Amino acid sequence: MSSEAHITRSEPSVYVYEAPIRLWHWVNAFAILVLGISGYFVGSPLPTMSGEASDHYLMGYIRFAHFAAGYILLVGFLGRIYWMLVGNSHSREIFFPPFFSPGFWSGVKHELKWYLFMAKEPRKYTGHNPLALLTMHFMFVWGMIFMIFTGFALYGEGTGPGSWSHNLFSSWIIPLMGQSMDVHTWHHFGMWWIIIFAIVHIYVAIREDIMSRQSIVSSMISGWRNFKDDGKIDDGR
Ligand code: HEM
Ligand code: HEM
Repeated sequence: MSSEAHITRSEPSVYVYEAPIRLWHWVNAFAILVLGISGYFVGSPLPTMSGEASDHYLMGYIRFAHFAAGYILLVGFLGRIYWMLVGNSHSREIFFPPFFSPGFWSGVKHELKWYLFMAKEPRKYTGHNPLALLTMHFMFVWGMIFMIFTGFALYGEGTGPGSWSHNLFSSWIIPLMGQSMDVHTWHHFGMWWIIIFAIVHIYVAIREDIMSRQSIVSSMISGWRNFKDDGKIDDGR
């Protein structure tokens, strides 16, 4: 984490998440909700309906929702990478956690204790706390890359050889993983990886909002982190 991410002086509020990050966060969360629900039904389809499949086209609509949300996820992620290059220091946090800073790992230890109700005082950070950063990097950033690569590899099977998704993804990912069914299985497994991240993420965001005496959920709406007491701040240093 860059030094700006730690609170070094008492300020009642700090601007952290710029508008493109906030917009991306909520669009991305919505896309993942649609992908999770539609993907689940792709993997476990509803019982067969009577009549011609093309008349009701149920699985067709479910797959369409999945692919449309898949494109939104991809474009959003590329936009997020662009903002990593041009945004403020917080926009780079989840991509480059400061693994080589000893302060970072002692922060991770402290947050683990805090989440397990074994530490008395919350530490305050302008950006993400070190444990959040670690899970956002490994579970979310790498999880997203994995889902986009495997998702477009499966998509390229439908669009066929010569299409951009087939050339860019299917042509090497499918042989690398074995065959189409293996990619399905890994892509399906990836869904549960992302769902576990999302459940824990939403739980801790609400928990920290209540317990850590700094704004959390509203920071992803307004962009500002507000500190809720007299300015006595412990950032672990
Ligand atoms: C967080 C993101 C995503 C989640 C949670 C997700 C979830 C799933 C799940 C659970 C399946 C069923 C796998 C199976 O059991 O066979 C699936 C299939 C599929 N997904 Fe995704 N997916 C995501 C992203 C994407 C993206 C970005 C694309 C790109 C367009 C994509 C394209 C596909 C395709 C083509 C299939 C196979 C459809 C079929 O065989 O009818 N997915 N997805
Ligand atoms: C009701 C749903 C959600 C709420 C209330 C929520 C809340 C938040 C909050 C408050 C933050 C900022 C945390 C901090 O300041 O340290 C944040 C960041 C983040 N959230 Fe969520 N979130 C939700 C859904 C999701 C979902 C579904 C995902 C993806 C699976 C997600 C991925 C992220 C990521 C990657 C960040 C880091 C943003 C960045 O620095 O670029 N969130 N979320």
